[in-house]
Amino acid sequence: MVPDKAFIGELDEVVGTANVLTDPELTHHYRRDWTGRFVAPSAAVVRPGDVTEVAAIIELCRKHQVAVVPQGGNTGLVAGAVPLSGELVVSTERLNGIESVSAGSGGLTALAGTPLATVQQAALDHGWVYGVDIASRDSATIGGTVATNAGGLRVSRYGDSRQQVVGIEMVAGTAEIISEMSGTLRNNTGYHLPSLVAGSEGTLGILTRVALRLVPRFRSRTAALLRFENPSDATNSAEQLRGLIPGAESIELFFGDGLRLVCSTFSMAPPFPRTDGGYVLVEVAGQDDQTAVLAEAVEVLAGVSDVAVADDSTGRARLWRYRELHTEAIAALGVAHKLDIAVPPGALDEFMTAVPETVRRVAPEATTWLFGHAGESAVHVNVTGLDNDDYSADEAVLNLVIAMGGSISAEHGIGRTKLSWMGLAHSEVDLAVLRRIKSAFDPDGIMNPAVLIK
Ligand code: FAD
Ligand code: MLT
Ligand code: ZN
Repeated sequence: MVPDKAFIGELDEVVGTANVLTDPELTHHYRRDWTGRFVAPSAAVVRPGDVTEVAAIIELCRKHQVAVVPQGGNTGLVAGAVPLSGELVVSTERLNGIESVSAGSGGLTALAGTPLATVQQAALDHGWVYGVDIASRDSATIGGTVATNAGGLRVSRYGDSRQQVVGIEMVAGTAEIISEMSGTLRNNTGYHLPSLVAGSEGTLGILTRVALRLVPRFRSRTAALLRFENPSDATNSAEQLRGLIPGAESIELFFGDGLRLVCSTFSMAPPFPRTDGGYVLVEVAGQDDQTAVLAEAVEVLAGVSDVAVADDSTGRARLWRYRELHTEAIAALGVAHKLDIAVPPGALDEFMTAVPETVRRVAPEATTWLFGHAGESAVHVNVTGLDNDDYSADEAVLNLVIAMGGSISAEHGIGRTKLSWMGLAHSEVDLAVLRRIKSAFDPDGIMNPAVLIK
């Protein structure tokens, strides 16, 4: 059922009228995904202030059979947080705050709606680092990053969000409050609920708090931007660097067309006199100066034509802008179809070479942009110049990925945009088990029913 007047009245009683929004002007930003490709015509939004209110809301939704879309910062890139079928949006924006940081042992607990950047800063303030970093850090919430199992720029060294979560508090689709917040770094007492919930995309329940492990803060940090005349040399070198620099923090890849777009969109000077070819951005951290470690690795790579190195925060930030601003520069062209895929290690260059032609065959008028996390053989295929509801390029690229033995989502998740391809990513037996897991948390099927699993 879509929320009606009587139901809204009951919500008002739980959270207060000011925290239930239905006016289309006030709900606009909750109804539209970050890319602008998906916009719901109307919505009801509720903003609970604590876990008890979340549980009361889910209890009401169960009673009235109202479907729910949990929403954090609404920066997701697979349309998992927008109420396209009239679901009730449960926003975590009032569940905001760091609860504790343990400077001695490197643990942090936060409410689920806390922005990732706030978590990162709290960790730094106590001499630690939070292992996950993504360019949407100011808006994305810690609950959203866990719910999507966000990856980002430091997966090479620390893994994705699932590897940082040591505890959760969540209101399940049954309205029960699951609380496993002890935060011990080791816990081998059976099924590990924090790991299961990471990547569940709001289909099992609403996260209200998380306990996270932090990683030590290194004294020295060096970044290098490498230019290669030949794009294939850049791709192959990025994959090679994972073995050449044990524990490299970031190994990122982009190409001349993306670099030129970033520079023209943001009026930035390019890093080198030439702007064609391929680019690898690598960052290394340690207790001592890391420049020699980087130099030794770069010596081994084939085809490096230019190098820029930075070991201070301003210089590193300057190099990172060329990579991080790809998302916004592409968005400035119009709605992009975004695919975040991974291929088996060693196969990235073959994929990169094949993908533009694969898109051209089905959408000759479209433009393909490639960049990403090449240290893990993961890349973003962005296609611009397509209608919002034209899935021909999405289909062609994902079929290529499957044919090469890759994954149709390396980090953004499945959401709505990739739901049709879940059958290619999993066997029928796997899918049946996933459905039974969902049903244990959400027997009425009210939690984000159009997302991840049908
Ligand atoms: P939302 O967009 O609000 O929600 C995402 C999903 O999680 C939805 O299915 C929603 O229902 C669910 N959800 C949200 N909060 C909760 C909760 N408390 N409990 C249960 N379910 C919940 N992603 C990466 O992985 N790596 C990147 O490098 C990266 N870079 C990005 C850069 C930019 C500029 C942008 C715009 C996005 C980027 N993203 C990246 C995607 C996005 O930021 C992540 O998916 C992020 O984890 C989403 O967090 P959010 O709080 O915005 O979640
Ligand atoms: C990135 O790596 O920059 C993000 O995942 C965002 C994107 O895919 O555009
Ligand atoms: Zn990414």
